[in-house]
Amino acid sequence: MANPLFVLLLSSSLLFLSPLAYSNPNHSTSPPPSAAHAELNKYGFPAGLLPINVVGYAVNETSSDFFVSLDDPCKVTLPPDNYLAAYSSRITGKIVAGRITQLDGIRVRAFFQWWPITGIKSNGDYLFFDIGMITTKYPSKDFDESPQCLGKRFDS
Ligand SMILES: *[C@@H]1O[C@H](CO)[C@@H](O)[C@H](O)[C@H]1NC(C)=O
Ligand SMILES: *[C@@H]1O[C@H](CO)[C@@H](O)[C@H](O)[C@H]1NC(C)=O
Repeated sequence: MANPLFVLLLSSSLLFLSPLAYSNPNHSTSPPPSAAHAELNKYGFPAGLLPINVVGYAVNETSSDFFVSLDDPCKVTLPPDNYLAAYSSRITGKIVAGRITQLDGIRVRAFFQWWPITGIKSNGDYLFFDIGMITTKYPSKDFDESPQCLGKRFDS
């Protein structure tokens, strides 16, 4: 017979554990999944900043302007806190070594709102995301692996 307390404990421990269930396998030896991801590496950023469904990109090395095209808009969960992020099918900005500015096309869901990520800095060990008025810092190694887009059933 199901003990209600046991069920409660089990479900609350699952709730507690689910954010930790994200595993980040050591993919540092696998090659970047596309030329755009390799280009990110060249500028000092991990491949996991872009989802897997990149179909095109260009960087103007004179002006630092770049664009990335995805085959579809894409939602992913960002490590390690499983925030939902939404990528437009066209992402633009400026990129130089260790710094992305004027970023347009990536938003994160937090506190019941979508916030644009307007810039990203990398110092090798950490990424610094400009989100709205704040900057948050995450270990770069959490972004080694390029994420898959979530299924359409997760779309809001
Ligand atoms: C990944 O594995 C390699 C080889 O085992 C190791 O040298 C490297 O430090 C690991 N990287 C991370 C981020 O754990
Ligand atoms: C690259 O940027 C420079 C400076 O803004 C501009 O003159 C040039 O036309 C751009 N090249 C391409 C291919 O868009």
